[in-house]
Amino acid sequence: MTMERRKRTNGSNIIVGLDVGTTKICAIMGEAGEAGIGVLAVSSHPSSGLKKGVVIDIEVTANSIKKSVADIEEETGSSVREVYVGIAGSHIKSFSSYGAVGIKGKEVTHDDVERAIESASAVYVPLDREILHVLPTDFILDGQDGIKDPVGMAGVRLEVKVYIVTGAVTSVQNLLKCCERAGLEVVDIVLQPLASAEATLTSYERDMGVVLVDIGGGTTDIALYKDGWLRHTAVLGVGGNHFTNDISVGLRVPFPEAERIKKKFGAAASYASSTDTNDTTDVDVVAIDGQVRSIPRKYISEILQPRSEELLDLIRQEIQAFQGGGFAVSGVILTGGSSMLSGFDRMAEAILSLPVRIGYPVRADHDDRGRSGAAVTIQGMKGEFNSPIYATGIGLVIYGAGSFLPDEGFMSSSNVFNRVVAKMAGWFKKIVGK
Ligand SMILES: Nc1ncnc2c1ncn2[C@@H]1O[C@H](COP(=O)(O)OP(=O)(O)OP(=O)(O)O)[C@@H](O)[C@H]1O
Ligand SMILES: [Mg+2]
Repeated sequence: MTMERRKRTNGSNIIVGLDVGTTKICAIMGEAGEAGIGVLAVSSHPSSGLKKGVVIDIEVTANSIKKSVADIEEETGSSVREVYVGIAGSHIKSFSSYGAVGIKGKEVTHDDVERAIESASAVYVPLDREILHVLPTDFILDGQDGIKDPVGMAGVRLEVKVYIVTGAVTSVQNLLKCCERAGLEVVDIVLQPLASAEATLTSYERDMGVVLVDIGGGTTDIALYKDGWLRHTAVLGVGGNHFTNDISVGLRVPFPEAERIKKKFGAAASYASSTDTNDTTDVDVVAIDGQVRSIPRKYISEILQPRSEELLDLIRQEIQAFQGGGFAVSGVILTGGSSMLSGFDRMAEAILSLPVRIGYPVRADHDDRGRSGAAVTIQGMKGEFNSPIYATGIGLVIYGAGSFLPDEGFMSSSNVFNRVVAKMAGWFKKIVGK
C-alpha cells in the first residue's frame, strides 16, 4: 500500500467513469477544478453482455463500451485512454477483520495506521478470490474505541477494525478484458454501491447511519453506513429486469414492450392512493402477435406489487440484520433506475418504517462531501442526466477526482478510499499481467 495520493500521468484533470451495468453502459467525462467537478459529457448505450451485474459476453460488452466512449470523445473532442470502472455482482463477498500494532514513537503516525490496517488485511482468502477493499470501521487506541483519525494522538497500542470486500478473480478479469478490448486502461476498479454512495449520500447521513439501495436492472446493491464508515454491503439478485419480465409474462407482451409499459404506466402498488396508481383508465399494449389490446391500467400495478413487496422484504431483512448488530439506521436512500418506479419510494417507507428519499447525483445541498476546502459541486450537467440511473457513473467520476482535491487529513473518506483502491490497483495489475 502506498501512502502517496495517486497522480495522473497525463497531467490533466480529466476523469472518465465507466459504469458497466446490466441494462446500460454509461461513460461520463468530468473535470476536477478548484470549484468542484464539472461534467463535460455523458453517454449511454444499451448493454446486453451482462447478467446480474456480471460480464457473460466480452465481445458484446466491449463493443458497447467502445460506443459509449466514442460518443463522449466526439462530444468533447478529446480522446479517452484511462477509465475508472465499477464492479458489482453476487460474487462480491465481505467480512470483518481486526488488526493491532504497537506504537513505535510517542504519537500515532500515518505509518502506524498503515501497519495496523495491513495487519488486519493479513487474512486467509481463497485462491479464487481477491481482496477488493479494506475499509477501516473503527480505531481503538489503548482501549478507547470510536476514534476516527488516530494520527497525532498519544498511545502505545493501536487496534483497527476493518471491513474487507472480496471479489471472484474471474469476474474481475472478465471486466478488465472488456475494457482492454475496447482499448482502455483501467486506472481503478471501485465497488459500484460505493461509487453510487459517493454521488448520493451526504457525510451527515453517513454519520447518522444510512442505507443506500441501488436498484438497477440486474441486481439490487446495498451499502450500509454508520459513523461515517461503510459497515456492510449486500447484493440481492432482484432488479428492474424482474419487474419487466413479470409484465412480459403477465400481459403476454415482448420484453421491450413490457419495459415501455412499466416505465410509462407502472406503479409499485395497486392500493397506493396517488392518482397515477388509482387510475381507472385503460392503456393500449402491443401483444407478441403485433395486435394492440386495451387493458385496465390497474392490471400493471397488480403485477408489479408482489415483486416490489418481495424486493422490499429482502431489503428489510438486510437492514434488520444490520440493526441487530447494534447499528441504528436513520434513513434509506434509493437510487438506480428502478428506484424511479412510481410509488416505490412510498411503499418502501411503509415496509421499512424508515424515512426514504430518492438519491439523485446532483442536489442543492451537494456541496456536503465531508471535505473542507473546495466543495465538490457538479457543474454543467444537463438535467436529463441528473437521474438515479447515473448515480454510479457520476460517483466513479467523484471518486476519480479524489486524487485532485485538497487533502483534508489522512482519514478523510476520499483519502481512505484512494489508499484502499491503490492497494487494489496493485493486485488487478498483477492478475492482468501488467
Ligand atoms: N421510470 C422508471 N420506472 C421503473 N423502472 C425504471 C424507470 N426508469 C428506468 N427503470 C428501470 O431501471 C433499470 C435500469 O437501471 P440502471 O440503469 O440503474 O441499471 P444498470 O446499472 O444497467 O443495472 P445493474 O446496476 O443491475 O447492473 C431498468 O430495469 C429499467 O427498466
Ligand atoms: Mg447499476
